[in-house]
Amino acid sequence: MDFSQELAEKGWYHSFELPDGTRIEGFNKLDWLRKRYQRFPIPADLAGKRVLDIGAWDGWFSFEAERHGAEVTAIDCVEVANFLELQKRLASRVSYRILDFYELPEAGLGVFDIVFCLGILYHLKHPLLALEIVCGLTTETAIVESFVIDPDTWQDHRDEVPTMEFYETDELGNQLDNWIGPSVSCLMAMCRAAGFARVELLHTTGMHAGVACHRQWEPVPAEAARPAPELLAVANNRTLGVNFSARKEEYISCWFRAAEPAVTRGQLRLEVGGFGVPALYVRPAESGVWMANFRLPPGLRSGWSPVRLRFADSLFGDTTLRLAVDLPLRVDRLILNGACDGTNWNDREVKAGDGGFISCWVIGLPENCDRANTGVYLGETRLRVEYLSEPDAEGMRQINAVLPAGTCKGPQACRVECAGVSTEARTLQVV
Ligand SMILES: C[S@@+](CC[C@H](N)C(=O)[O-])C[C@H]1O[C@@H](n2cnc3c(N)ncnc32)[C@H](O)[C@@H]1O
Repeated sequence: MDFSQELAEKGWYHSFELPDGTRIEGFNKLDWLRKRYQRFPIPADLAGKRVLDIGAWDGWFSFEAERHGAEVTAIDCVEVANFLELQKRLASRVSYRILDFYELPEAGLGVFDIVFCLGILYHLKHPLLALEIVCGLTTETAIVESFVIDPDTWQDHRDEVPTMEFYETDELGNQLDNWIGPSVSCLMAMCRAAGFARVELLHTTGMHAGVACHRQWEPVPAEAARPAPELLAVANNRTLGVNFSARKEEYISCWFRAAEPAVTRGQLRLEVGGFGVPALYVRPAESGVWMANFRLPPGLRSGWSPVRLRFADSLFGDTTLRLAVDLPLRVDRLILNGACDGTNWNDREVKAGDGGFISCWVIGLPENCDRANTGVYLGETRLRVEYLSEPDAEGMRQINAVLPAGTCKGPQACRVECAGVSTEARTLQVV
């Protein structure tokens, strides 16, 4: 008997044992459901935890998490009568919402300590987008179970480039809503690429694999085996500014000092806004300084997020820096307090030619002004900002901006602009 026939005959996808002893025999046996749940590395006591069950179907995993004390939200793209019946019979408080996967970010459900994404990934045309959505909604751990194409042989080719099959119509199981079949390593790679800090393979069983995707690094070691890296700077890899947009494909660059002769990606434990972020790339920058790139983790709240760094076997360094996510840039009034040659400090005069730059001092720049969103203009030309200081006690910042080759000599108007607001212009003699 095939899946659809057996399902139609039974009428239930999940099996249940109700408090009065009534048993409902569904396609998935109770022992099997319990075994699956027991493998999840989540606390037995879920009191105080919020759980999201995506694609709940009859709802066994939702009701089980509720039985363990969680506040549960279950979603499905269709209303399942069995779920509603069970909800009534169990007097369950699970919040049941009919939503499509892709509607989740806008659904206003909040974030969840634990997310179940069970048996649904291969039904989705956009699996990586779906995993990014899952990651953005998860604050601790997501459990992802999916159909995989190599449950028994994945270890034979674990070092090869991961692969995924794509089913345009009914190639998999004669079902139109089966879109993809990842290899085990592809499933794990996609979960990491979606933004999780650590992805742990729980099992491969039958045609499926289960993984636990953690948003935090493993605990800091009790004893440090080496000194912590010293975090020196953090910037948006595209703009070199401090601002990031959660909707864009943006990456974080970090510069840090380390006494190590060699540093590998796998050693780095960056934390942004409390989420662990794996390194994508690391290279030596200059004597003792290293540069590493990281993904902006999904799910950061808009505003400032703290950034800190450690090695797998070190404590965190003393420095915590920060980056701004989707923080509006607000400026009332800008005052240009001075502008001069940045190399010899000659007032109102700047030397053109190799390495020439202007230093200027501005009051009124917002907290999240940066090298990308603050413009220094000489005449009509926007100069490249190389340095923007923190504000002093009077709120004044120094900006250094480079004169491009071929800058015309003679008097030129210099001004600074941020968020559409400009300082008054000062005349600088380009000599
Ligand atoms: C194979 S069942 C998995 C049921 C349960 N999570 C489990 O693992 O036992 C897939 C579930 O995902 C739901 N589903 C499929 N595509 C969906 C989508 N785009 N958005 C939300 N739910 C979806 C289906 O309605 C169904 O309830």
